[in-house]
Amino acid sequence: MALNLPSIRADFPILSRILPSGRQLVYLDNAATTQKPKAVIQAMTDYYENNNSNVHRAVHTLAGEATDAYEKGRQDIADWFFVDREQVIFTSGTTEAINLVVHAWGRANLKKGDVVLVTEMEHHADIVPWQLIAKERGIEIRFVSVDPVTYRLNMDEFEASIDEVSFVGCVHTSNVLGTRNPVEEIIEMAHSRGNHGKGARVLIDCAQASPHERLNLTELNADFVAVSGHKMCGPTGIGGLIVKPEMLDEMQPFMAGGDMIEEVFLDHSTFQTGPYRFEAGTPKIAEAIGWGVAINYLSQFDMHEVHQHIHDLAAHTADKISKIPGIKVYGDHSDPTCSGVVSFLHETIHAEDLAHFLDLGGFAVRTGHHCAQPLMRKLGITATNRTSFYLYNTQEEADAFITHLERVVGRLTR
Ligand code: ALA
Repeated sequence: MALNLPSIRADFPILSRILPSGRQLVYLDNAATTQKPKAVIQAMTDYYENNNSNVHRAVHTLAGEATDAYEKGRQDIADWFFVDREQVIFTSGTTEAINLVVHAWGRANLKKGDVVLVTEMEHHADIVPWQLIAKERGIEIRFVSVDPVTYRLNMDEFEASIDEVSFVGCVHTSNVLGTRNPVEEIIEMAHSRGNHGKGARVLIDCAQASPHERLNLTELNADFVAVSGHKMCGPTGIGGLIVKPEMLDEMQPFMAGGDMIEEVFLDHSTFQTGPYRFEAGTPKIAEAIGWGVAINYLSQFDMHEVHQHIHDLAAHTADKISKIPGIKVYGDHSDPTCSGVVSFLHETIHAEDLAHFLDLGGFAVRTGHHCAQPLMRKLGITATNRTSFYLYNTQEEADAFITHLERVVGRLTR
């Protein structure tokens, strides 16, 4: 059954926004953040109007309601990803989730000479934190390269290194290229052959995958998975690190303070168990509630259908704009697993100038290096323009974008 787009669009108030240019918004920056349905906005407003209180700390009625709602958010997220609630550590997003792995697991387990293997396709969030502890600990970081023609990881390089590797970090789906990496194979190989046969731990960055794939994280079997709420219709400021239960015992506390402790003495402290050990301070209560509601909103759809819709819009757009003189598209959109991002660049028009003219037409696209400078260097560029589609985007929007881009390029290159 096709997605009922008029009905879906009516759920997202911002989609009827008229911009200062007088043009109707066409929101094509979904890989950066998706828009929020009314149900999420209302749930968060309702929480602040009726239940706002701190959680886990008091016996009054509001504290109980807030705690129940916050923990329901954790359960909703756990159910969506097919894991137990104790496996869900709330973070501010994917970046904090990866930093948590580096500091809570990496510091406790990596030693001088250990090898961490990541890829050239990673977001900076899965490169820079490793660089920080690599220097401090004498850890070697190796990179699996990306083929700048096929836009895929060089799996021969992965295989050549894997025996010596203690930790693998890999992006599930690229935020620049849309490439879906063979993460199942990567996880299996890391577990069976990594660290000289003892098994390497694996982190998968699912920020771009979770919005359009119903991930079964128990089946995926990665040790750590990082996700963001705001890229799947949830609020900003919340995401999660989803861990295999046994990883909780391999992690040391990172952020310390209230709520993560059991008992504090002047000379030492003892800590909570489970995810709470890693959630110091007042948590993101309204955000956890909002993310849970976003997930319940998405659960009304068949995610295969959602992916197909997003992919079809992206593939159609990539095909058409690649025929505009001077435009090069990055990514293999003929691959049915490719996501909804279409990165492109004109050979003479600066990406920011182009973005400005697109904005004047009402089209919101992202421009820049997309927090992936090593990948940009591999592609021989410094920036791209990037459209990214989501479930509420329509064929008419994609066609209007293509027509507008043709016109702008025609005018600027006359
Ligand atoms: N990492 C996000 C993006 O690709 C913000 O736009």
